[in-house]
Amino acid sequence: MADSEGIEKLIRSHLVGFTGYSAATSPETLEGKVTVPIESIIKMDANENPYGCSPRVLRALAESRNLNIYPDDGQQGLRKLLAAYAGTDAGRVVAGHGSNTLIDLVVRLFVGPGDEVIVCVPTFDLYRFSTEICGGTVVNVNRDDNFAVSVKGIKAAISRKTKLIFLATPNNPTGNIVPRKDILEIIETGVPVVIDEAYYEFSGETVVPLTSRYKNLMVLRSFSKWAGLAGLRVGYGIFPPRIADYLMAIKIPYFVSMAGEIAVRESLADLDYLRGRVEAIIKERARLFTELQKISWLKAYPSQANFIYCAVLKGSASELHQKLQRNGILVRYFDKTFLKNSIRVSVGKPEHTDALIKALRELKP
Ligand SMILES: Cc1ncc(COP(=O)(O)O)c(C=O)c1O
Repeated sequence: MADSEGIEKLIRSHLVGFTGYSAATSPETLEGKVTVPIESIIKMDANENPYGCSPRVLRALAESRNLNIYPDDGQQGLRKLLAAYAGTDAGRVVAGHGSNTLIDLVVRLFVGPGDEVIVCVPTFDLYRFSTEICGGTVVNVNRDDNFAVSVKGIKAAISRKTKLIFLATPNNPTGNIVPRKDILEIIETGVPVVIDEAYYEFSGETVVPLTSRYKNLMVLRSFSKWAGLAGLRVGYGIFPPRIADYLMAIKIPYFVSMAGEIAVRESLADLDYLRGRVEAIIKERARLFTELQKISWLKAYPSQANFIYCAVLKGSASELHQKLQRNGILVRYFDKTFLKNSIRVSVGKPEHTDALIKALRELKP
């Protein structure tokens, strides 16, 4: 058998040394590292829904007698339901195992070695991840000090090799949206544009109605955040019909599980309940923002998503993250090229805000 160096000669050369995507820490891995029982850990690190999913989903999954059979690979029922929710046609919709898989699928359709993908940094790292796996090159366009995208910068970055432009709105981790006039100007370049609306339900701003007008516009959505299905993994996208056909053709079979399909159906049948929870999170976001603003060594940025980004003005974000973790509160921290010394805090229940603010006051650097 070849040793690991031998194996590295066999894998695709651009993937040698590839470090992957750094995902949030799972509470079960923190046994012995925190001062509270694992069940009491407050998770404010992955933008999950603290209220969980609709009780209808739990009931339907418990009662389902179909988990032993494959779901419909053509996603006929699912595409119709999602289209009705998003206000589009079923032929434009493709569903996947979380919107991550749709980001990856779109990149696999458009990007090969030598191709370029434009992203506006800082932003969600998965666009880089999928692009690099496909052998493409990421072209970073810097946002300004308030994290607004630079339309001028994007236009200047477009080359003959550009295959895709990714724009998250609201953006992760900064929480701000891309103004509609900027999105329109970027779409007008004619380059395929992916608008990632994973946090749409918290901002209320969407460009889905524009998808029937522009052949280069794709919109991605997720059930992880607003519908509380992060663990079940369901996302979808709205595409020009021809692109949707190609994506359906190149996707791995059974791209959404039977459980995921059931969860979508039940969530969409319980919209009033889920929207009530979204409202509670939006209300709590305002309170969390006000409280974070009172912490003099943090600079909190306004957010239209279910998290708040904060620059750490005094002390180290990494140490702050460690100390909070030891106290049983998980937040995301960053200290890399485009994200210096900062944290991102997901909006939780009111008691989570209280616990975080109390800990931040006590941990003052
Ligand atoms: C901007 C953005 N897009 C997509 C995703 C992926 O969501 P999921 O794969 O859970 O649907 C996330 C998750 O954090 C995100 O922040």
